[in-house]
Amino acid sequence: MNANFSIDSSTRKYLIPEEVYDFDHPDVVYWTQYYLERSNRKSIFDEIDFTLNNLRSIETAKKVSIAWYEFTRYVPGFISKAVVLTTDPERQHHLIQIAYDELGGRDKDYIHSKLFLDAVSEIGIDIPENHISSSMTRVLSELDSVMDNNISQYGIVGLLLSFEIIAEENVEMLFNGLCYNDKCNDILSKSKFFQIHREDESEHIRHSIANFLRFCGSDEQKFLFEKSFDEGILFWNDFWSRMKSVVISDI
Ligand SMILES: [Fe+2]
Repeated sequence: MNANFSIDSSTRKYLIPEEVYDFDHPDVVYWTQYYLERSNRKSIFDEIDFTLNNLRSIETAKKVSIAWYEFTRYVPGFISKAVVLTTDPERQHHLIQIAYDELGGRDKDYIHSKLFLDAVSEIGIDIPENHISSSMTRVLSELDSVMDNNISQYGIVGLLLSFEIIAEENVEMLFNGLCYNDKCNDILSKSKFFQIHREDESEHIRHSIANFLRFCGSDEQKFLFEKSFDEGILFWNDFWSRMKSVVISDI
């Protein structure tokens, strides 16, 4: 089970008030575990973990930073596009919440892409805010094409769950790639970027599971949801495989 489900319920934060599908709801616990297992996440991370552990250096950390910055700048637009394609206002309301959170919620000082630049700057990696890299462009455009290719209303919900389901592992793999010495470990652990991601990803996952439970009740809806969920998991395989190519390249 996801470790964060053992957190004291009084300290848990919710994106929006939740009256039904809280962290302890048995269906939330069950389906979170089900979709984590369906993601087969160990196979996604094995190779990149090995590569990062063997090529630990500031050069590797710079490559990972630039690639992740392209990704973090992409995220709010991707979720917003999913909302644009969603026809029902109540589903739109639920699906937009994570994009709003990525863009700082009610505080522009918490825009995640900016917090990321602040975090890596503290370990000596400076990326200009307007830096445009293309290392991840191909895999991101393939993810866009999953959404552009006649995705169903329930597929949209499934694709967005696949985007979140391994978020905690993604954050830890990013941390692994950035930590080129012991000092980085302390500095990054204290950064706002890693603090909020380590605290909040479990809520992004719970929220996305709640969207599944709320909006995908019939067998047909669940089938369409899972078809897109599986396509989203293929994206993560491509993403980390591409990251490995970036890390081992000479550029
Ligand atoms: Fe984020």
